Amino acid sequence: GFFDFKYYLCTMKSPKRYLITSALPYANGPLHIGHLAGAYMNADVYARYLRAKGEDVVFVCGSDEHGAAITLRAKKEQVSPQEIVDKYHQLIQQSFERFGISFDIYHRTSSELHHQTAQEFFKVLNSADKFEVKESEQFYDPEANQFLADRYITGTCPNCNNENAYGDQCEQCGSTLSPTDLINPKSTISNADLQLKSTTHWYFPLNEYEDWLEKWILKEHQKNWKKNVLGQCKSWLDGGLQPRAMTRDLDWGVPVPAENADGKVMYVWLDAPIGYISATKQWAIDTGKDWEVYWKDEQTKLVHFVGKDNIVFHSIIFPSLLKAHGDFILPENVPANEFMNLEGDKISTSRNWAIWIHEYLEDLPNREDELRYVLLANMPETKDSEFTWADYQARINNELVGNLGNFVNRVSVLTNKYYDGKLQTLAEEVLTSEDRAVVEQLRKLNGKIDAAIESFKFREALAIVMDISRLGNQYLAEREPWKLQKSEPIHAANVLHIALQIAANVAIAMQPFLPRKAKQLSEMLNLHSTDWQLLGVSFLVEGHQIQQPELLFEKVEDETIEQQIQKLKASKESNKKQQEMKEAIQDYKADIEFGDFMNIDLRVGTILEAEKVPKTDKLLVFTVDMGVEQRTIISGVAEHYEPSVCVGKQVVVVANLAPKKMRGIESQGMILFAEDAQGRLRFVNPEEAMQNGSTVA
Ligand code: 2FM
Ligand code: ZN
Repeated sequence: GFFDFKYYLCTMKSPKRYLITSALPYANGPLHIGHLAGAYMNADVYARYLRAKGEDVVFVCGSDEHGAAITLRAKKEQVSPQEIVDKYHQLIQQSFERFGISFDIYHRTSSELHHQTAQEFFKVLNSADKFEVKESEQFYDPEANQFLADRYITGTCPNCNNENAYGDQCEQCGSTLSPTDLINPKSTISNADLQLKSTTHWYFPLNEYEDWLEKWILKEHQKNWKKNVLGQCKSWLDGGLQPRAMTRDLDWGVPVPAENADGKVMYVWLDAPIGYISATKQWAIDTGKDWEVYWKDEQTKLVHFVGKDNIVFHSIIFPSLLKAHGDFILPENVPANEFMNLEGDKISTSRNWAIWIHEYLEDLPNREDELRYVLLANMPETKDSEFTWADYQARINNELVGNLGNFVNRVSVLTNKYYDGKLQTLAEEVLTSEDRAVVEQLRKLNGKIDAAIESFKFREALAIVMDISRLGNQYLAEREPWKLQKSEPIHAANVLHIALQIAANVAIAMQPFLPRKAKQLSEMLNLHSTDWQLLGVSFLVEGHQIQQPELLFEKVEDETIEQQIQKLKASKESNKKQQEMKEAIQDYKADIEFGDFMNIDLRVGTILEAEKVPKTDKLLVFTVDMGVEQRTIISGVAEHYEPSVCVGKQVVVVANLAPKKMRGIESQGMILFAEDAQGRLRFVNPEEAMQNGSTVA
């Protein structure tokens, strides 16, 4: 009946509790501003806002410690995957904490609890026959003795001819690939020719969830999901969904808990989102709470904050898995952001084109809230956005110092100066129309920021906060209480009364966005409560005593910005150099047989004498002690070595090279040199002194 309907509306409108997640970052590198702008700043504002309203909120995150992202990094740094995740988990966790992202828990997927939780999830799906177990041909590296994850295979993209496309994706044209699409697929871990070999995997038949997804996304969520998210969902659904392998042949990850699954782990994109569940469990253990209501009660609102490359996993794949499992609620929203670029270029970990959070915290201490402000003001909510240091400086100096800081400073200075820091009684009988208009505008604030945050428009929400202090500034500029103070003191007192009420509102409205500065301001204004419901209300009572003024924000000087710009320039240059050097490295020669190599007789010798060959620029002639005899050998290294420094050096000699006459001298062998891309030559010698005549192979 009517009552039920009303009850339904009511429960829809205000959930009992919120579970907020931010994408689990891969523990394969430090955090940068792109991460924060994508999936953490917004989630943090959302969580802080809800907490300020007194809502029941759990905000979870953790490190994603499995998958090829980790093993590739480990290979590159020549350490074990465990060492990689231990190092970066710690660094990332610390950066989040110091920066002020208010997770209730920051967990990790290598933990025992996570492995258990993920395996349990898998077992439920497996025993309910939600998977199809299928054999298929996959690329196998015979030298590394393993099946290759998609990321370990590179080749030419069939769409754009990029020669360095990955087995899962071409980064040049952005198309999603499967390894067998690649032209000339190659292993990235050896030079072996790839073989196709058959292997068994557990597939999740996503195609069977298409109809359900269409309804769930396009019918139920058309209105409250962001356009960029709906757009991606629509194009995936229009393209038709395929069964997706949920297991991998790898030795790093959560072992597949099934029979005949030796050497197999869960696909990282199955295990990672389950990380949200295990994080919630760990939080519940730590705090003595019940995790289950957050995942099983329909009156929990689950919101996944992610970047645009994660949309499909959170809006299509994971919800289908949750649906198949049956015990869990589904996300109410997936408010994904686009990407933030840096000074005209894509942020890139491998090219070191980023502002690293741990470095920012060192280089610009006590400026966390300022960075939060700039990231929020430029948040890539609907399209890619850009961070520049010039914009950072301008926003802080003009908006935080010039607008917000200036307003609250003027109010507290004047209130202290004229009234010993006490809120004066409002003389209602003499209020002007301007005074009334401002109070009215303040009142209208109520609900505005709420609406913006609840529809995930964080830029708009922040702009409204700044509008409050702009309103206050304009009001002071128009009414000029410093003049009224002499001519009409009763008016001056009214103006500063109203201005102080506005400043108190600013302190409350700032909380989710600039938590440290909000706290400083509410201490300065001596606020007894910072409850969100006070917004729009002139809640300070007459006689309220404020503290001495403090400056909330400091200007950012040109030198500071210049230093940061130089740092980026240096990284761009070193990148360019590295790239050039890489390109200059010669290709390998064609393969030879083992026997051909063994026919070369390499020996250790010591240079006894060295001289320039007369009338030449390039040639040196050496006398080399070979242990059983002395040899005369000519090398073209006069431009690289002074003869005198060569004497006494051990070298490697090709001892069975047929003698050759040059400039009237017979050269009896060849000394080996290393040559770099710039053509610089250096002797090759054993790392420790060896007996002359020793063999090299
Ligand atoms: O793209 C990434 O960085 C992934 N590590 C995100 C995982 S989100 C979730 F599923 F855990
Ligand atoms: Zn391509």
